Amino acid sequence: GLLGSGEKPLVGKTVLVTSGPTHEPIDPVRVLANRSSGRQGHAIAEAAARAGATVTLVTGPVAIPDPEGVAVIRVETAREMLAAVEAALPADAAVFAAAVADWRVAEDSGQKIKKGAGGPPTLALVENPDILATVAKGARRPAIVVGFAAETERVVEHAKAKLARKGADFIVANDVSEAGGAMGGEDNSVHIVGPEGVESWPSMTKRAVAAALVERIAAALGART
Ligand code: CTP
Ligand code: CA
Repeated sequence: GLLGSGEKPLVGKTVLVTSGPTHEPIDPVRVLANRSSGRQGHAIAEAAARAGATVTLVTGPVAIPDPEGVAVIRVETAREMLAAVEAALPADAAVFAAAVADWRVAEDSGQKIKKGAGGPPTLALVENPDILATVAKGARRPAIVVGFAAETERVVEHAKAKLARKGADFIVANDVSEAGGAMGGEDNSVHIVGPEGVESWPSMTKRAVAAALVERIAAALGART
């Protein structure tokens, strides 16, 4: 294993990672957001850098420090994240660990929305671009594309559907129901869903998941070159 081994199997490779939530403005003081600490995505970026890769991390707003040895690009919205990701291509591998807000407010208000006699406002939503699917199906597709799947039920079944629908090589599925505890915590228990089946990894730290995933990506890249 890579953990502590000092091996650098990604020397000469470029890796792109998305991390954190996105924030979609409602008005100048309010946002629509997802829960995500950014811990897993940041750990993957750092593990890839330790493995010798040139790493670009595109992250939404997070409260954790930048990983070491990584070029960090900060964004707020899903559309900004997509633009930053496309600007960072080409890459040999891409890992989409961000918790992207699926919707944004159709027309965000330039002024703060006030409470008033009209009662609560109704927010019309529109769907955000799917960054993973756009890149996985695009002309500059990285050789290895890894997605995540945050699920609260039927975790592996939903992850298999996402693998096919989005055109990823692997989906890292985790249970974000309260019993699963991945959201915001230190540990993660994941299933790696690939074309050849499902591997369920024991619960381990997000750093350990990151190191194991980077090892898996290096092996997959090696098999293609
Ligand atoms: N993803 C993305 N852009 C989006 C939505 C999701 O790049 N607009 C990526 C995530 O970073 C993750 C994967 O797609 O790697 C799956 O995200 P998830 O929220 O689990 O799937 P969705 O397709 O959004 O489906 P749903 O939320 O309805 O389960
Ligand atoms: Ca989603």
